[in-house]
Order: sequence, then structure tokens, then C-alpha cells
Amino acid sequence: MDAAKPEILYDPRDPKMRSDPYPFYARLRETEPVHRTPFGFWVVSGYEEAGQLLRDPRLTSEFHRDKKWAEHRGGWHSPVVDDTRMWMLMLDGGAHRRIRGLVNPVFNARSVQEMRPRISRILAKVLDDMGAGEGIDLIDELALPLPVTVICGLVGLPVEDRDQCRKWTEAIGHVVDPALDETTMRAMNDSVVEFRAYIAEHLAKRRSEPQDDILTRLMLAEVDGERLSDDEIIANVLLLFNAGHETTVNLIGNGMLALLRHPEQLRALRDDPGLIEEGVDEFVRYDAPVQLVARITTADVEVGERTIAAGSKLMILLGAANRDPRRYANPDTLDMTRADIKPLAFGGGPHYCIGALLGKIEGRLVFTELLRRYRDISLTTEDVVWRPHVNFRGLSELRVDLVP
Ligand code: HEM
Repeated sequence: MDAAKPEILYDPRDPKMRSDPYPFYARLRETEPVHRTPFGFWVVSGYEEAGQLLRDPRLTSEFHRDKKWAEHRGGWHSPVVDDTRMWMLMLDGGAHRRIRGLVNPVFNARSVQEMRPRISRILAKVLDDMGAGEGIDLIDELALPLPVTVICGLVGLPVEDRDQCRKWTEAIGHVVDPALDETTMRAMNDSVVEFRAYIAEHLAKRRSEPQDDILTRLMLAEVDGERLSDDEIIANVLLLFNAGHETTVNLIGNGMLALLRHPEQLRALRDDPGLIEEGVDEFVRYDAPVQLVARITTADVEVGERTIAAGSKLMILLGAANRDPRRYANPDTLDMTRADIKPLAFGGGPHYCIGALLGKIEGRLVFTELLRRYRDISLTTEDVVWRPHVNFRGLSELRVDLVP
């Protein structure tokens, strides 16, 4: 190898990474679990190191303070950048704790258990519409409509508007893309303006007519005399759609693909449906819906025998950490009976996914109901298509034959 040209161990835009990133992750982790790429940013692929960094308060999530980041998204006061300044996802310390503390009761174990019957009803309807037959696209028929219908229902937005909400959400989801073209950036900003106006209209209705929904609960939420402003409610409802939609779509798609490629695990789950309780954790460990989260260091940080200088950008590769052989025996094997999983798929530390329980319950209900309704599920073709996304990993199509 030419000494002047360092080997590229990680290039998120390499198309080969899309269909199967795991061999790349394995080499990266074996070579350097904490690695500075020739592009200048750092990547962290070890489980231990990733977990340590996710909890380190010297790492910031406040990308909106970065001038270049904001410029690429339409400018310092573009609608999307202004909105992210209120997202709990992109706040540190006390500002983060304040918003998260007010939203948290909506997603605690009790609240989420209460959502279960509603989710079951929505799922039954989606599955009735899907029916049975050959070559059914599970992404289009099930994985895409379910989470957005659930979140519309829970937030208190009319379910008839779910396709529009999905369009806005998908356009805004590009905010985490490392490379944005002009058209995508404009569409993203237009979507923020429209989605905000739409949520604001429904929030105003709640002021005169409270309902049993998340909008009303956020409007009334109070901790130590603190409340959320309308702007903050709107921004964080918009965030809930963004953080909860594509992730759950990918949990369903990637989990189903993993099962179909491991027929003995599918049989094990049919024989013992209770395995799904921990099994969803194994799905997201095996093929994480969110492959990476990004941070910036605010001080020199030592990790895994390396020192990352203050002001460095880093990517914590959750998908790689979840396959670390130092943490998991046979990490590349899907094992529905695996114990003590604790994947980093939902992040860790203060930003640990607030919707993890909701996402897991949706996943448990989906897999249980699919296996109950269909005695045979098989892949129509091995040629599955992955979406071109760096941060998320998910299928754009998954064709299956379903026999009731
Ligand atoms: C089902 C699969 C899901 C996966 C794999 C997932 C993954 C993640 C990850 C990795 C993070 C951490 C981000 C970071 O550290 O920068 C996160 C945060 C978050 N997730 Fe999820 N998520 C899922 C479902 C959901 C759902 C259903 C919702 C809500 C409806 C949701 C709402 C959020 C929010 C609001 C945050 C930010 C929390 C904070 O900053 O304190 N997620 N999620």
C-alpha cells in the first residue's frame, strides 16, 4: 500500500456498504475500534468504546451550533435549523433534561402499555388490508403504513392525513444526511414550514377541546412549574415523527428479512412465541435500524487507547458495536434465544431512545401476529433492495409469499 495514501477502512458512501456493511465493520473493528478516517472524522466500532462515548458529557449533540452544518441545511435561521434548536435529540445537559423530562411521562412503561390495544387494532386493520398471496411487498403493505398510523393516532392527528404526514417526515428525515443536494434541502425546509403549521392548527384545537392524546398531554405537562411552549411542543412532535417512523419501519423490515434468512430461528419462534419478548432486541442487535449516531467532542477525549481532540466530529457505529465479538459470542448469528442482549441500537446515555418501548411493542405485536396469521412466509426473491441512506439501514422492498 502507498504510505501517502492511507487505506480507507470506512467509507459510508461505498455502495457495497449498503447491501452488507458487516464485513467492513469487522475489519474496521479488528484494525482499530476507534479510528480516524482520512476524511477527517472519527468512527467508533467497538461495543465498549461506543457505550463509553454515548454516556460522555464532553460530547455534544448540538450540531445546530456548527456553522457549516447549518449552512448545508439552508442557513442559520432556516426553518429546519431553527426547529432542531428545540429538539431534545439535539440538546445537551440541562436544556435536554428539561424537554425530555416533560415528554418522558408520555412514553413511560405504563403509558406505552396503555397504547397496546390501540396499536393492536391498527395492526389488525393493516394486516386485513394486506391479505395473502405471492410477491407481497411487506415494506409497502405493512412496515410503512403501520408506524405512521400508530403515531398519528397517538399524537392525535387525523389518520386520514397519515400519507401527508409521512411525506413531510421523510423529507425532514434528511436533516441527518451528511450530504444534501439543493433540491432535497429546499424540500426539507418547505416540509418543516408546512408540518409545523399543520401541528399548530391541531394544538390550537386542543386548547379548547382536550383529548386523550399526546398533543393534549404535552400541552398540560408540567414539572416543577415548568411547561413546554407551543413552539417546543410543535418541534418535538415533529421530532417524534422523524425519530419514530423510519426506525420502526426498519425494525420490521430488517427483522423479517433476518428471520426469513434463518428458517431455523423462524421455526423456533413459531414453536415458542414467547421468544419475541427478547427477540426484538436480537433483531435490532443483528441488523440495527439506525446504523450510527454523530457527535462532536467539546474537549480532548480518551477512548480505546486513542485521544480524540476537542472539536472533532465522530460517528458512533451502533451497527458495528452490536456485532462486537468481545461483547457477543457468535455475533454474526441471529439467535432468538440469546440472553443478556442490551444492544446499542437504541443508543445509550442521556439520549437513549425515548420511544424504545413503543417501538419494541410495535415490533412484538407485528411478528406475533404475522406468524399467527400465516402458516407459511417465504422470500419471493433473494434480491432485496436497500435504501440509499447512511445513518439508517432499511429495505425499500421486501417481497414475500404469504400462505394463511
Ligand atoms: C423502533 C425502533 C427505534 C430505533 C432503533 C430507535 C433508535 C434511536 C436511537 C439510536 C436514538 C439515539 C440518538 C442519539 O443518541 O443521537 C433514538 C433517540 C430517540 N428516539 Fe428512537 N428509535 C426507535 C423508535 C422510536 C419511536 C417509536 C419513537 C417515538 C415515537 C422514537 C423517538 C426518539 C426520540 C424522541 C429520540 C431522542 C431522545 C433524546 O434525545 O433524548 N424512537 N432512537
